Amino acid sequence: MIKPWYRVPRKTARIDPRSTRRTETPTPPTRPQSSGLVKSPAATSAPSATGPTSADVLARDRAMVWHPFTPWEDWMDEASAGDPPVIVDGQGAVLRTADGREYLDGNSSIWTNLHGHRQPRIDAAIRAQLERIAHCSFLGATHPSAVELAGQLLAAWPLGGLERVFYSDDGSTALESALRMARQYHQFRGEPWRTSFLAFRGAYHGDTLGAAGLGGIELFHGAVKQGATPPLEVVRVGEASELALLRPEVARKVAAAVIEPVLQGAAGLRLWPPGTLRALREWCDQNGVLLIADEVLTGFGRTGRMFACEHEEVVPDFLCLAKGLTGGYLPLAATLTTRAVFEAFRGQPGERRALYYGHSYTANPLGCAAALASLELFRTDGVLERVRELGDYLDGALEPLRTNARVAEIRQVGFVAGIELRNPEAPTRRLGREVCLAARRHGLLTRPIGDVVVLMLPYCVTEAQIDAAVRAIERGLAEC
Ligand SMILES: Cc1ncc(COP(=O)(O)O)c(C=O)c1O
Repeated sequence: MIKPWYRVPRKTARIDPRSTRRTETPTPPTRPQSSGLVKSPAATSAPSATGPTSADVLARDRAMVWHPFTPWEDWMDEASAGDPPVIVDGQGAVLRTADGREYLDGNSSIWTNLHGHRQPRIDAAIRAQLERIAHCSFLGATHPSAVELAGQLLAAWPLGGLERVFYSDDGSTALESALRMARQYHQFRGEPWRTSFLAFRGAYHGDTLGAAGLGGIELFHGAVKQGATPPLEVVRVGEASELALLRPEVARKVAAAVIEPVLQGAAGLRLWPPGTLRALREWCDQNGVLLIADEVLTGFGRTGRMFACEHEEVVPDFLCLAKGLTGGYLPLAATLTTRAVFEAFRGQPGERRALYYGHSYTANPLGCAAALASLELFRTDGVLERVRELGDYLDGALEPLRTNARVAEIRQVGFVAGIELRNPEAPTRRLGREVCLAARRHGLLTRPIGDVVVLMLPYCVTEAQIDAAVRAIERGLAEC
């Protein structure tokens, strides 16, 4: 029996992760409001004496720069109003702008930052590495930080069975690596017909063509597939119960199944019913299919365990890590895999069994140094215990939002929460965006996924800052 890892909120609504509706009537909030630690953006300090002003940067940005995942007219509107934060420094969970505004980093700088900004030990580790070398090739050479990090990553994975570490740069490339390894593994093992991948509706695994080919979100992935041969042949399922319905001739062509364990991030922080990951592992075993666990978001404590796979004690064939790997400092990714996968690629050079894949900045030494320092913080500073405490605190702090008539549901696991807004006017009204822009005026910086407001603060945050973040969302809601 798999214990549910998702949070059943106390006193108020019981969230059934299969449904989007609450099953009980919420009770009024009892939690006292504490003052926030972030200066209201309106009450700013003087602009910094050095460096360009926010207005200068925004004007030049609008003329030359192209931002990811950003409808351009939105950006122009916001930039004309001087709204987008021009971030010049950060400290802990707080980001500061060129004109002295301060914001809580409400989505951990797009789900990357773990321990806060300017964490002294990570800063020092990067500086020390910089004194030696910033970058060197990992093709035909190696370096101590990458080797040490490989050992520490394998040691941090508590379930055994993973023995090799392949480095790349980002979440997408961690996935690309696993996809290529999986296909070639089957070729080398005499099953070259296994070329397709099983992925879930609502999946998000990155933006390179292969990783996007796995994606199941129309807004993000529709254009990639439109009118073209799909970059990958994908067998799409909605949930684990559909696996049993797949015909054997479909299953025997699948190279690997890919899942974001415990929660689908970009789908709007959707929690899987407990047992989903275990059921997928069993289906993979029964059908000779490899399992890829995409822990780009969930890795390194976000769900209250070091890795989300631990909640169901599932050992995948590939574990993809990025984002928080360096504490959110530098782009670095790792794909951990089994001895069996690695061994399949061994052979004489003439057999062409090598993995002819990799990127120039693979195993970048600065990134490895940051990652080593981040892992040391987990070992010495009780980070996981603190994350669990923060998760409990957040559960209570969210009470006022649960009773808010505009909130349809709050989904929380560990220290990650998605606040789904009730938006009867959707899709004509982009309420999630409006509320996030309003919350920004109250000192919280985050981005919505549709009408889901994401709250994913760095682990160094204080209880008072959590209260301030929730209050900013409440005020934002009141103003929209
Ligand atoms: C689960 C998951 N996989 C992969 C990625 C892609 O990572 P990156 O943006 O670093 O390429 C993301 C990014 O949000 C993600 O959430």
